[in-house]
Amino acid sequence: MNVRPARSADLPRLAPLWRAAWLDGHEGHVPQELMDERGPDHFAVHAERHLHTTLVATDPDDRLLGLIILGDDDGEVIQLAVDASARGQGVGGALLKAAENRFRGRHPQTWLAVVPGNTRARRFYEHHGWRDTGPLTYQAPTSTGTVPVPVHRYVKDL
Ligand SMILES: CC(C)(COP(=O)(O)OP(=O)(O)OC[C@H]1O[C@@H](n2cnc3c(N)ncnc32)[C@H](O)[C@@H]1OP(=O)(O)O)[C@@H](O)C(=O)NCCC(=O)NCCS
Repeated sequence: MNVRPARSADLPRLAPLWRAAWLDGHEGHVPQELMDERGPDHFAVHAERHLHTTLVATDPDDRLLGLIILGDDDGEVIQLAVDASARGQGVGGALLKAAENRFRGRHPQTWLAVVPGNTRARRFYEHHGWRDTGPLTYQAPTSTGTVPVPVHRYVKDL
């Protein structure tokens, strides 16, 4: 497996992978208002917008296995998504480690928001040394503004 910066040629594969994984992690755990906003267009637009701070994991044939979107300004892991067929093999762990390495020396701490019901992701972060600092309301972006979403803020000291 290889972790590298995303490029524009990845976009047609990146947005659908991200959408499918996002639905796996969020369906039933976020307000319906946000689900209604998260159609294919949202992921296509935002994948392009975040391309310059996205890392992807690929297999030896350059097949896309997962992605991580980084908020360079404040050390946020904005999104982490692994294709369903590639989960449980260390892809998510490799992407998370790449994010931590990128932020180390630039931010004292890295952070992310995870919805309370996404127990698989919460266990995964805890396994990687992240800690739950409690509930927070996250303003999730939509095409018209934001939707408030109850989340937990996880952090890791770098
Ligand atoms: C959460 C998510 C990113 C994890 O990605 P992943 O590639 O499955 O993660 P890993 O394979 O590194 O780790 C998953 C588990 O497999 C285990 N594992 C890792 N490598 C392994 C290997 N080679 N063989 C067997 N098991 C392995 C890990 O111990 C880990 O266990 P844990 O969950 O108890 O920590 C992925 O499930 C996903 O994309 N979910 C949907 C989207 C989502 O919820 N994103 C997070 C939003 S905040």
